[in-house]
Amino acid sequence: MKFLETRLDFIDEAGLTRSLQNRTESIDFCSNDYLGIARNPEFHKRFMEGLADVQKSGATGSRLLSGNSPEIDALEAKIAAFHQAEAALVIPTGYQANVALLSSIATRHDTIIRDELCHASIIDGMRMSQAKTFSFRHNDIQDLRQKMGKRLGQTFVVVESLYSMDGDYAKLEEIAELCRKNDARLIVDEAHSVGIHGENGRGLVQELGIDELVFAQVFAYGKAFGYQGGAIVGSSLLKQYLVNKSRPVIYSTGMSAHQVLGLSIAYDLVQEAQDERQALKSNVIYLIEGLKNIEGLQLANNSRDQSHIQGVIVPGNEEVLAKAQALQSADIYAVAVRKPTVAEGQERIRICVHAYNTKSEIDLLLKTLDT
Ligand SMILES: Cc1ncc(COP(=O)(O)O)c(C=O)c1O
Repeated sequence: MKFLETRLDFIDEAGLTRSLQNRTESIDFCSNDYLGIARNPEFHKRFMEGLADVQKSGATGSRLLSGNSPEIDALEAKIAAFHQAEAALVIPTGYQANVALLSSIATRHDTIIRDELCHASIIDGMRMSQAKTFSFRHNDIQDLRQKMGKRLGQTFVVVESLYSMDGDYAKLEEIAELCRKNDARLIVDEAHSVGIHGENGRGLVQELGIDELVFAQVFAYGKAFGYQGGAIVGSSLLKQYLVNKSRPVIYSTGMSAHQVLGLSIAYDLVQEAQDERQALKSNVIYLIEGLKNIEGLQLANNSRDQSHIQGVIVPGNEEVLAKAQALQSADIYAVAVRKPTVAEGQERIRICVHAYNTKSEIDLLLKTLDT
């Protein structure tokens, strides 16, 4: 095991050791439970009631073997109807959903182009694909246009509607239009915007009215849905293709009955969460106003975006860890994000604000950041 020690020493020397920490009871500016669904007692009540109808705990096999069920079919029909799409394919995690889609959608004659700040699951899915792959400069339409000039075959462009580290939005309308003009298929990962944007939380694509220009949406349910899982939403043909070609779909156990039940309840709660969406909006405005009033504070995202994710740049590993520690001492839980998740020099405290944060909690956060 010496080789593992050597590699870990290397990480340690670079000041980049990570370790698993138990969740704390401190004031939550860290979790992705933006609407508070994970802590909503109504979830547990409905889940316990629903359990009475669960026959088997596990899926018992790939969905192509024994792992499919009327309950999964019903959940997928519910998701497709909510997002006004033809079909949905649920997958046990959002990570796996991106890998399932991107590893299989393009052949070696095709091209996939992604924003440079896309999530690891998008990058990993693309790595597993045989397609020609490129990234374009973050949200840079001109660079995307240039990269399109190098494409071969069917072209897929992948973006996130809301970027999870900088908290800024993709220029979705412009990107969608560029894709339309160039006959490229647009894939939008809505992990951090579904549940929050759009009518009843349908997502940013729906809010902007560009559904027709989007080839597929990927949803992750560990964020505003407060639960777990992912889905690929698009045409029936796309679903049929994935069931036939996507190895993470074919060679992995399907979603458990418990997860199917929980996800269905989370969908209901998200639709009902109008007050929480309002509270979140108000907290976002309050937080950003406060952050902008702190002299010398550098935000990851200087655009006019008003999202529930904000990054306070604190360059340097030691410096950012010290800042996270100072916050922790004030009973605030907000984590330091370092290389390789963000580029060197862009180390930051990632702040996620929630519907359930109070204004006085936000005041305490601002005061502590200002010291
Ligand atoms: C943009 C994006 N896509 C996908 C995922 C993966 O989702 P999950 O946590 O459900 O695996 C994440 C998770 O952090 C994400 O931020």
